Amino acid sequence: LNRSSFPADFVFGTASSAYQYEGAAFEGGRGPSVWDTLTHRHPDKIADHSNGDVADDSYHRYKEDVAIMKDIGFDAYRFSISWSRVLPKGNLKGGMNQEGVTYYNNLINELLSKGIQPFITLFHWDLPQALEDAYGGFLSPLIVKDFADYAELCFREYGDRVKHWITFNEPLSYIIGGYGTGGSPPMRCSKGMAANCTAGDSGTEPYLASHNQILAHAAAVKIYREKYQVSQKGQIGITLNAPWVVPLSQSEADKRAASRALAFIYGWFMEPLNSGTYPIVMVKKVGGRLPNFSKLQSLMVKGSFDFIGLNYYTSSYVGSSPCLRGVGNALTDSCTHSTVGRNGVLIGPKVGVNWVYSYPEGIQALLEYTKRKFNNPTIYITENGVDEVNDGKKSLVDKVRINYFNQHLFYLQRAIRNGVKVKGYFAWSLLDNFEWNAGYSVRFGIVYVDYKNRQNRYLKSSALWFKRFLHQH
Ligand code: GCO
Repeated sequence: LNRSSFPADFVFGTASSAYQYEGAAFEGGRGPSVWDTLTHRHPDKIADHSNGDVADDSYHRYKEDVAIMKDIGFDAYRFSISWSRVLPKGNLKGGMNQEGVTYYNNLINELLSKGIQPFITLFHWDLPQALEDAYGGFLSPLIVKDFADYAELCFREYGDRVKHWITFNEPLSYIIGGYGTGGSPPMRCSKGMAANCTAGDSGTEPYLASHNQILAHAAAVKIYREKYQVSQKGQIGITLNAPWVVPLSQSEADKRAASRALAFIYGWFMEPLNSGTYPIVMVKKVGGRLPNFSKLQSLMVKGSFDFIGLNYYTSSYVGSSPCLRGVGNALTDSCTHSTVGRNGVLIGPKVGVNWVYSYPEGIQALLEYTKRKFNNPTIYITENGVDEVNDGKKSLVDKVRINYFNQHLFYLQRAIRNGVKVKGYFAWSLLDNFEWNAGYSVRFGIVYVDYKNRQNRYLKSSALWFKRFLHQH
C-alpha cells in the first residue's frame, strides 16, 4: 500500500487544533477560552494537572512545523483557529485582534509557500470565555449570530487562500463532555449525577446545546454560500466523530440497539444535515426534551455541507439496555450499552492508552454506512490515530502506530473502491500535544515533542513510514 493505491487527487495530511498546539495563551492579545478557565480553575480535571499555556508553542514555531510536514511529504494541514485569538471577547463588538489575525495569515502563507493546502476548523472546543459568561455559550440561541460573525470574519480575511472550511469539530464530544458527564468545559451535567459538574441538567441541556451548534453551523454555511463561495471557490463542511458499532449478539434486540446507538451518536448530527430533522428514534425516546427545528431552520440545516469530515478511531459492541423511566439523559436515552469485549474477547487489540481498540475494518463499515444512509456525501477522514503513554523516556520507535495507519488506510481504500467518495485522510496528529483531560500524559504525534528540552521535535518511525508511503508512486 502506498499513495498510488489512492486516487491521484487524494489528499494526505495531519490534523491539529489551536488549544492543543499553539500555546502563547496569554500572548498576542488573545482572550481566554473555556479551556483556559477549566485548566486553571480545575487542574484536578487534567491527568497531569497541566494546561495549554505553552503546549507545542506552535504559535512561535509554526515555520519549523510546516517544514516538517513538507519534509514528510504531506499535501495538506488541518488546523483550527482560536476564536478568542481573533475576537478576544468572542464578538465583533469586543473588537478584532489584528495580531491574532496576522498569525493565521502567516501560517496560511507559510503552508502555501511549501505547497501545503490549509484545511481550517473554525471551532475546536475553545469557546471564548466571554461568551460563556455573557449568555451561557451554546445554551443560548445568541451563539448563532456570534459564531456566524466570527466565521464570516475568517472567510473575509483568509478565504482568498483557504479552500476548505470545517465549521465544528466533533460536536458530540463537546456536548457530552460539557453538558453530559461534565468533565470538560463548561462542566455542566445533572447535579448529583456525577461528581464532575458545577450545575446543569443533562436531561435537556445536551440537546439544547447541540441544537444551537447545528444552527450556528448552518448559519455560517449560509453566509459562506451567499457571499463568498462563488468568488472564493471553496468548500465547507463539518467534522463529526463516530465509532463503528457491532451488535453484541445476533439477537434482534441487540441489532436494533446498535442501530439506535448510531442514531444517537452520529444521526443526531448527520440526519439533520441530510434531511433537516432529527432521527425518528431520537424523537421517540427523547420526546419533548429534544428541540424542534422550525420550517425555516430545517431548510437552512438540510444540505448545509459540501463535505463531511469524519474522525474515526475505534469501535465497540453495543447491546440493548432497559430504558429507565424518568432518569433519561443524553447518555442513557438510547437505551443501549457499549462494551469493548464479547465473551471475554476484545473487539480488537488495545493499541492506545485508554480507549483506542484497533478495529480497522470499522473505518470501511462507517464509510459505507454513511454512503448508504446519507446519500453518498463527499467525505474527508479528518482524524485517525493512536496514542502511546508518555513515560518520560524518548521513544521514537512506534511500530504499533505504523501498523494502525497501514491497516486503516487499507480498509479506507476498500471503501473508495466500493464507491464511497473519500477525498482525503488526515492523521491525528503531526506532533505530540495537549490531549485535553489526559494533558501531556499520552502522545498522539508521529513527531515526538521534547517538552522539557526547548520543545525539540524528533521524527518517530511512523513519520518516516509516512515519508516513504508518500514518496512511492
Ligand atoms: C477531536 C479530538 C482531538 C483529540 C484526538 C485524540 O475532537 O478532534 O478530540 O482533539 O486530541 O481525538 O483523542
